[in-house]
Amino acid sequence: MAAFTTDVLKPRFHSAIVDWGKKNFPEMELLEKNWSTYFQGQPQFALYAKIGKIKSDLIEYGKFAGRPKFEKAGEMAGNMFFSAKDIIKAQCSTEFGSVQQHRISLEQATGDEAKYCVMRIMAEELRHAYQMFWVLDHDSTWKKLGMGDVAAETMDELLAMKTGEHVLDAFNIEFTHFIDNIVFGALIDLVGKYQLDMQKVFSYAPMARSMPPMFSEEGFHLGTGKRFLREYATDAAGGKGRWSFPEIQKVINQWYPRGLEMFGNEHGGTTTVEFGFKDKTNGVAQGEYIEEVRQILEHVNMGIVQARNPKMSPPDARKVINEILATGDKVESVGADEIIYLPSNKFYRRRGLPEYVFKPFDMRGELITESGKPIAADSYFAYLETQLPGKYLKTADFEKFKTHYKKTEAGETW
Ligand SMILES: [Fe+2]
Ligand SMILES: [Fe+2]
Repeated sequence: MAAFTTDVLKPRFHSAIVDWGKKNFPEMELLEKNWSTYFQGQPQFALYAKIGKIKSDLIEYGKFAGRPKFEKAGEMAGNMFFSAKDIIKAQCSTEFGSVQQHRISLEQATGDEAKYCVMRIMAEELRHAYQMFWVLDHDSTWKKLGMGDVAAETMDELLAMKTGEHVLDAFNIEFTHFIDNIVFGALIDLVGKYQLDMQKVFSYAPMARSMPPMFSEEGFHLGTGKRFLREYATDAAGGKGRWSFPEIQKVINQWYPRGLEMFGNEHGGTTTVEFGFKDKTNGVAQGEYIEEVRQILEHVNMGIVQARNPKMSPPDARKVINEILATGDKVESVGADEIIYLPSNKFYRRRGLPEYVFKPFDMRGELITESGKPIAADSYFAYLETQLPGKYLKTADFEKFKTHYKKTEAGETW
């Protein structure tokens, strides 16, 4: 038996998504035409909703635990109804947002293989947006007396969003070179994987049923990111490739803080669990994410060590990495400036705990001070300019960070 059944949207929103795709992802045709060349034996892409199975018909977490899952949005009271809508909207915004971002630098791909992998990611993100529309579109109880058509309003808002207008910061950053497509897959889609996994328990059943098919597609996105990131780092170790070690590191520094912030405030997420929307609070999920990113970078670094020492076994390569990290010395022809580091979770933060949000923390998590006081904003920006990609420094996102940082430093609200 198939792992899911399929459904389509009502004509108005079905054609709205098809049109959105033609405008924001016209390369889809090319992908469909050459699908079997790059993804042989894998089912051809199709734009429809996939309705998977839920583990339990009963709510598993929070204050309604043990009761049957809600089949209708209208059964959820006040706050819960709107909070479910906000999660669906944020999820859908990430899907549309990432298609728009990937497209910016798609043509700069390092080869056809990388390009087709990214196009497949884009197609699947478009399907995920379609899926979130299905959640809103197939259930007429999102229309509530006195509140208007919440579903239609939300979908119209989503269709109009451009880069810079999305719900989460990570989706408002313009890609500036193709390595963004790849690091985004490794670090930001990884957060997506955590969210989808947590939402498998969702107390509103149609959302829970949407998660398993999306989750399994996410594996390819993450896999693409990890695969090409390791390839680019290995190329750097061989003195070839498009990006040097410091350049790769800067791209990691750019994306990782935004990935951390996608979990929400480190101390938050209890209401989401109370409503039975997710099975973990923000801090717990973020902690697991940090460990998984550490492992991804270790895997990349092992590729570097093995590129320099082709006969070395993976366990020995891991030992070499640990020795470099512990001593800062050059080991087995790999210098301390030739591996990739996990930035501190306090570095370059704009959301989260007040201890480090808009505070001058360096990559290693140390507060940068001068005469015993944290350095001023301009000095911190000068430091950040040495740690972030040159092209990124010219984006609206970095400008916005600087504005908010200065206002926060001056004690202003914004
Ligand atoms: Fe997605
Ligand atoms: Fe994804």
